[in-house]
Amino acid sequence: MEILVTGGAGYIGSHTCVELLNSGYDVIVVDNFSNSKPESLRRVEEITGKHLKFYESDILDKAILEKIFSENNIEAVIHFAGFKAVGESIKTPILYYHNNITGTLILCTEMKKHNVKRLVFSSSATVYGMPKSVPISEYFPLSATNPYGRTKLMIETILQDMYSSDKEWSIAILRYFNPIGAHQSGRIGEDPNGIPNNLMPFITQVAVGKRDKLNIFGGNYATHDGTGVRDYIHVVDLAKGHLSALEKIMKTSGIEPYNLGTGVGYSVLDLVKNFEKATNKKIPYVITAPRLGDIAKCYANPIKAKTILKWSAQKNIQDMCIDAWRFQVNNPNGY
Ligand code: NAD
Ligand code: UFG
Repeated sequence: MEILVTGGAGYIGSHTCVELLNSGYDVIVVDNFSNSKPESLRRVEEITGKHLKFYESDILDKAILEKIFSENNIEAVIHFAGFKAVGESIKTPILYYHNNITGTLILCTEMKKHNVKRLVFSSSATVYGMPKSVPISEYFPLSATNPYGRTKLMIETILQDMYSSDKEWSIAILRYFNPIGAHQSGRIGEDPNGIPNNLMPFITQVAVGKRDKLNIFGGNYATHDGTGVRDYIHVVDLAKGHLSALEKIMKTSGIEPYNLGTGVGYSVLDLVKNFEKATNKKIPYVITAPRLGDIAKCYANPIKAKTILKWSAQKNIQDMCIDAWRFQVNNPNGY
């Protein structure tokens, strides 16, 4: 079965391509390398010993998408392509709205035209805005606090409207919590450009000596140790969640959101301690002012995915630390 993976060269996309190929799917990737490198796809082939088909293209290019759908027998799309940096989205909102929303509109237009109506979409726990309690269930009210979050929220709404107008669509909206870690081989992982925005890549860069210390954003949150609590999920578990969602949408029509998280929250200090234990590396840190827009606690109620998709996260926080570290050590300068 042929699956189109947009943004397949990126962090989550590359891990999902590995799982798809290992499960016998034929994988077609479209990526413009705006935030990734061709090397990640080469390594996906190396890890799996299988070939994937690849188009170096922008999903904003309607003609290329037309060609991709005409040349292949695509049965479903997993849509990762998009920009994801919150701070950057505040500085360049038009770029974010255009790439994420126009990109999705063009993709869905081409899908409908070619009668491909099965879609797995990368959403985010950011659509819960400032949740009033944890754990967070799918029926919690949705809101967004920055342009990036609004793109995800708007796309979710667009997909809902699309389904209302044509009940043949079968769509899984996956709301990821905090993906970290890397493939066990140490060959693919997270390779951020410049100074990492996210916690785990920052920690691994401190550990490898690229940065002198971690700045912990806020030490007075209403959490067990005052630092922010998140639901960290191993990227390989997350990738497997896409296969479960794919199996589900192949069997039914409809549109459903699913939280992909572990259901367990760890604070920044918990993660630092676990990383130190897993790697025997000391992480120097200072506690600084909170980051604007951050919330105290965010973790999932993962029951819906467990019940309906028959998926739950298997790897623990130590696995996440060990695997993130292995990728960093093996690839000190990224791909
Ligand atoms: P990533 O940046 O590593 O991967 C995205 C990929 O899409 C990159 O390879 C990039 O080159 C490609 N891309 C971007 N715009 C494109 C376009 N117009 N045409 C073709 N390719 C394009 O990010 P990721 O961490 O793998 O995230 C994948 C998806 O999951 C994104 O939609 C992101 O918003 C979402 N998400 C990520 C996180 C996270 O913490 N990593 C959390 C929640 C949701
Ligand atoms: N943090 C630090 N220092 C850093 C980086 C982060 O203390 O250098 C803290 C944050 O304040 C937060 C926690 O570490 O408490 C996690 O921060 P991340 O930036 O790694 O992740 P966020 O929870 O802020 O956001 C991530 C993605 C969003 C996505 C969200 C939910 O970046 O795009 O998870 O999926 F929306």
